[in-house]
Amino acid sequence: MAVSVVILAAGAGTRMKSATPKVLHSLSGRPLIDYSVLAAKSISDDIQVILYHEAERVEKHLNAVFPGLTLLRQDHLNFPGTGGAIKAAKPKYDQVAVLNGDMPLITPEFVQKLAASSATVTLSTFEHPAPTGYGRVILDGDRVVAIVEEKDATEAQKRVQTVNAGVYAFNRAFLENALPRLSNQNAQKEYYITDLIGLAAAEGKSVAAVSGDQAMLMGVNSKAELAEAETLHQRRLKTDWMKAGVIMRLPETIFIDSRATFEGECELEPGVMIKGACKIVRSSVKAHSVIEDSVLIDSDAGPMARIRPQSELIGTHIGNFVEVKKSKLTGVKAGHLSYLGDATIDEGTNVGAGTITCNYDGKGKHQTIIGKNVFIGSDTQLVAPVNIPDNVLIAAGTTVTKNPQSGDLVLSRTPQKSVAGFFERFFGKKA
Ligand code: UD1
Ligand code: MG
Repeated sequence: MAVSVVILAAGAGTRMKSATPKVLHSLSGRPLIDYSVLAAKSISDDIQVILYHEAERVEKHLNAVFPGLTLLRQDHLNFPGTGGAIKAAKPKYDQVAVLNGDMPLITPEFVQKLAASSATVTLSTFEHPAPTGYGRVILDGDRVVAIVEEKDATEAQKRVQTVNAGVYAFNRAFLENALPRLSNQNAQKEYYITDLIGLAAAEGKSVAAVSGDQAMLMGVNSKAELAEAETLHQRRLKTDWMKAGVIMRLPETIFIDSRATFEGECELEPGVMIKGACKIVRSSVKAHSVIEDSVLIDSDAGPMARIRPQSELIGTHIGNFVEVKKSKLTGVKAGHLSYLGDATIDEGTNVGAGTITCNYDGKGKHQTIIGKNVFIGSDTQLVAPVNIPDNVLIAAGTTVTKNPQSGDLVLSRTPQKSVAGFFERFFGKKA
């Protein structure tokens, strides 16, 4: 069945207390709105997103990540509220599913179920023991007669624990007929999409309700709810990856971006953050390491390693306090305390403790290329651009500024001097 999906994302998100529009706040590494769009994409080729507040910022994001959506503007000045937002939609198909832009845990299966309803109006509900903030679903027997918003609810209505989740399916002809009849005579002086349910019920149109799980349908209106939703989302994501074979130690302490992928048996220790679209294959990330937008294949990193974007570690060992950025390391050992940026390092090379690629000269970034079987002594600075061929030995404490030849020992050290008897002359005799 062909269905149009309208995503309401024009609200100011005042309760977020933020200069960032609500739907761009990040959850598991992606803006909230992405989750509504992904759910919509599973059922529709006509996805319309209604914008107003900070519309340019949201548009810029959506155009970059999901080209091909229809982006529309709400006439917010004259028609504020979710009912005003849906007025801006121009659905192609007769069945119109509507999603709020702030419900990141929604599953494609749930949207599919809702959209498949044949009723004139279908709403989604869940049970909430502390329903503050949600619209309450008012029943007459088992017939839905209205949704009443928190701010308009009587004390008795506020006690209702069946709440409106904010996902709907409408027959398009009904929408076209009913939208001009919405009024803003309510506590917020806004047009409510939820009043369409009351209108349909009063006219004897079929109104169906699909109930779902509270956690899956929660809305995000504040930073506390964002944290709660992210915790739930992380739990879901991590459970799925563990089922797929990833070992996680104390999973509650681990953060995984929703774009990250794992293959083969991987292990994540406590406090690990996998940010961005990482690809981790048969690798182990030790405690308190941060990996971002990088690829790890048959490698291990940490504890306390930082692998920054565009790095590729293949068959490589990265130890504690090592930072890698935009570098490709193949068959490398860098066990301790190093910075490797804008570098390519080849098989069998050992990077000693305290090695620094000096990649930035204050104006531009430069490359460090290191071949196979290079032994880099501790406390070496590689002043880029520099190219070390295969089979070179760099002595500890060296500052490399010129390209050596294969087979060389490279050494830049002030000769050591000892002054006999100086200690006692300076400090006096110690017992
Ligand atoms: C809404 C519902 C409430 C439901 C809850 C579920 C209404 C009137 N109330 O309340 O019954 O229980 O969701 O989470 O719909 N938006 C616009 N234009 C606007 C205002 C909002 O596009 O003028 C968008 C927002 O960007 C957001 C969505 O609509 O994505 C919902 O708005 P929000 O203010 O969060 O509504 P709630 O108060 O949560
Ligand atoms: Mg909301």
